[in-house]
Amino acid sequence: RAFTEEQPFRQRLLVVANRLPVSAVREGVDSYHLEISVGGLVSALLGVKEFDTRWIGWPGVNVNDDAGQEALTKALAEMRCVPVFLDEDIVNQYYNGYCNNILWPLFHYLGLPHEDRLATTRSFQSQFDAYKKANQMFADVVNKYYEEGDIVWCHDYHLMFLPKCLKEYNSNMKVGWFLHTPFPSSELHRTLPSRSELLRAVLAADLVGFHTYDYARHFVSACTRILGLEGTPDGVEDQGKLTRVAAFPIGIDSERFIRALELPEVQDRMKEMQERFAGRKVMLGIDRLDMIKGIPQKILAFEQFLEENPHWHDKVVLLQIAVPTRTDCPEYQKLTSQVHEIVGRINGRFGTLTAVPIHHLDRSLDFHALCALYAVTALVTSLRDGMNLVSYEFVACQASKKGVLILSEVIHIL
Ligand code: F6P
Repeated sequence: RAFTEEQPFRQRLLVVANRLPVSAVREGVDSYHLEISVGGLVSALLGVKEFDTRWIGWPGVNVNDDAGQEALTKALAEMRCVPVFLDEDIVNQYYNGYCNNILWPLFHYLGLPHEDRLATTRSFQSQFDAYKKANQMFADVVNKYYEEGDIVWCHDYHLMFLPKCLKEYNSNMKVGWFLHTPFPSSELHRTLPSRSELLRAVLAADLVGFHTYDYARHFVSACTRILGLEGTPDGVEDQGKLTRVAAFPIGIDSERFIRALELPEVQDRMKEMQERFAGRKVMLGIDRLDMIKGIPQKILAFEQFLEENPHWHDKVVLLQIAVPTRTDCPEYQKLTSQVHEIVGRINGRFGTLTAVPIHHLDRSLDFHALCALYAVTALVTSLRDGMNLVSYEFVACQASKKGVLILSEVIHIL
């Protein structure tokens, strides 16, 4: 509903992100249905209310015929979304390759891919070319849709080239760029072959934002050390042009969660849960099934807990909701198998004929089920995270003040 309601505001805001807040899922040869996209970016931006907001982004499927594109464009328009259609090869090289296999691990301090370094080096250039091409395709759509006075807000590591492409179209466009992941130390950014081009492209924006002061500081250091530019208290200066750089910690629409707790369907689900797990302590993990979320580590820690505390057997249960993500990337496929194997082993070791210690689900939950689940103890154990919004959602749902949140030390809480 947040997307379809009439907006009373006059200032138009064009949010440009790789993924739209709704993703199209193929149902038949030519039919799609739209479902809300999973992830921090969507949760955070649902709280942006003071603008007449439109989204521009990739609809999440490959649609290459004109009729299909036209039909999907129409359906998305009702959600205030404008699609950028990318073909399969571009998605493979730009999204699966450069974004998810190179930038994502690097920005989360996992380094550049180690396996078969030479093959990576060979494919690197073609992936980077696809990345620039994809960013240009986003810019083409924004430019078509842009009206004078619009604010254009570009998001995340997928679109670091976009500010540059947009300013080449129109130097008067007001452009902001915000990163939803950590920005790593300049010592790490230095290892990226395309380090300078990316920094220069981002600096074309008027305002560059990060979740924390540390990420902003790393970015400014990278610009001074790698590009030799001048850092000022307000940002980075290049030949008299100042790009403002600052920290804008993102949050969630907490009212949406608080209101949901009052709904009869949420209360019913809470009761169902209490009955289902009566007499057992419930621990909850909700994460995208991503290498940075520390899911195998969390499950192994739970196994160690059961090993060391036999009196807890049968009295504690871990519900792990692992939302599948980036399923075409080999690293994510490996992670899924690894998690399944560990869960199977632990349930085999500690399960009984009537109960298992881990309930593992490879799927997302609807909003109401999520709110009902947040009444327990949550474990958020990321190895590194830009700004973990599951922790915020959990806190927003603590009307009864009975929940406990256990966080790994790398999580930023403001
Ligand atoms: O944290 C970075 C981010 O882009 C989030 O904003 C988003 O929640 C998540 O990754 C989703 O990733 P993807 O679009 O690849 O599924």
